[in-house]
Amino acid sequence: MRHPSPINTGSSRLDLCPTGLDPARMPSHIAVIMDGNGRWAKAKGLPRIMGHRAGVEALKRTLRLCNDWGIGALTVYAFSTENWSRPGDEVNFLMALFERVLQRELEALQLEQVRIRFLGDLQALPERLQDLIAEATELTSRNSGIHFNVCTNYGGRRELVLAARKLAESAAKGELDPSLIDENVFAAKLFTASEVDPDLLIRTSGEMRVSNFLLWQLAYAEIHICDVLWPDFDATALREALADYQTRSRRFGGLDPINTDYIDP
Ligand code: FPP
Repeated sequence: MRHPSPINTGSSRLDLCPTGLDPARMPSHIAVIMDGNGRWAKAKGLPRIMGHRAGVEALKRTLRLCNDWGIGALTVYAFSTENWSRPGDEVNFLMALFERVLQRELEALQLEQVRIRFLGDLQALPERLQDLIAEATELTSRNSGIHFNVCTNYGGRRELVLAARKLAESAAKGELDPSLIDENVFAAKLFTASEVDPDLLIRTSGEMRVSNFLLWQLAYAEIHICDVLWPDFDATALREALADYQTRSRRFGGLDPINTDYIDP
């Protein structure tokens, strides 16, 4: 699968990398479960929706940092298939917020060469939001910068079921030999088709769950959980996540090539 290229082509990765981090060991793709907006608001005696508003600012900050630090792709969990069960007012607020943010930020995304995509079952979203999503996706589709994927009405299990259904339909029509279905063929039917898998999953607010997020794609991701509530996520928190990532030995089920002396000859 293609590796997205960082923007700022005038600079090398070394210039972009924050001090203390190894530019050769930066993740290509970061996935984030942005958790804790409600608790952030509650702690300040504010309504939950203020937490979501502050969450947008944290997201803009994080996208800019990832872009500046040469990360190729950022995928965030904005609204899950389960989030419809929240109170109607909160759901309506979130849908209106997505619309407003998309409208307001489209020009900046374009200027910064961000390529935005929305991943999920988009047909269930309000029509106006669907139109804005289609416009933003098309407008930024040829941009050379960071791939910014916003998972909206997204559920990992639903994504897998939809992929299986597409393959079964092709097989039933005689267009696909079932024996040819392998991991690459399957991955090509996911919402994330053509994106590299995330190297690093960050979850804020101390929760230690995957919550139906990118179930296939996170197979070999390193997981970083931090106590920071999403609206407070900043450069320090991102740097800490990256430093933690760089301490990991990624073996993908194999052995650490520089530390195999514990095996008897
Ligand atoms: C989780 O916190 C956060 C969400 C369900 C919404 C996240 C959405 C944004 C940050 C806005 C993104 C906007 C765009 C345009 C992409 P929570 O409400 O579950 O917090 P809690 O666990 O403390 O209750």
